[in-house]
Amino acid sequence: MRPHNTNKILFSASDIDARLDTLAEDLAAGCRDRPLVIVGILRGSFIFLADLVRKLHVHGVNPQIDFMTLLSRGSGVETTGKVIIRKDITVDVKDTNVVLVDDILDTGRTLNFAVQHLRDKGAAHIQACMFLDKPSRREVPIEADFVGFEVDDVFVVGYGLDYDSYYRELPHVAEVVFLDE
Ligand code: IMP
Ligand code: MG
Repeated sequence: MRPHNTNKILFSASDIDARLDTLAEDLAAGCRDRPLVIVGILRGSFIFLADLVRKLHVHGVNPQIDFMTLLSRGSGVETTGKVIIRKDITVDVKDTNVVLVDDILDTGRTLNFAVQHLRDKGAAHIQACMFLDKPSRREVPIEADFVGFEVDDVFVVGYGLDYDSYYRELPHVAEVVFLDE
């Protein structure tokens, strides 16, 4: 890892909690009559998804929940550009509504891959709910249906997001400030 600090907090735990209340409300309002499957993309989505589904429960939403592990990055901050499946879902998504949940929409490659994959499995309707969105980094033309917060082109950690597998446990989102730049 390059020398860095994570002192700059972009979204506090209470900012996140308040935003998730409205996000869950919006998501619940859009839930259709078909069975709902929430698919989290590991590993970044685990905290966001856990908080989100408990808030959805308040609105009477009772989805099936599954995870898939997709890899798109080396160990650091660079995207490799290629997405591979490390672990697939096991719930049958045929003719269901799927909500894909991930930590951040960056180049768009991961989400684009996941949408195609679920379409191939016969999902009837696919939506994406991303905790963060970095629109300035997009390389694939894809947008999320629900977004927690937009961020500038900076590297962020916390609330599931990592730098070399560190910092996922932070209850807030912080910017990684590199000290060698
Ligand atoms: P994509 O470029 O949209 O395919 O995003 C790939 C993955 O890169 C995301 O799911 C995140 O796991 C990771 N990623 C992108 N930007 C950041 C960041 O600022 N911090 C931590 N992980 C990131
Ligand atoms: Mg990820």
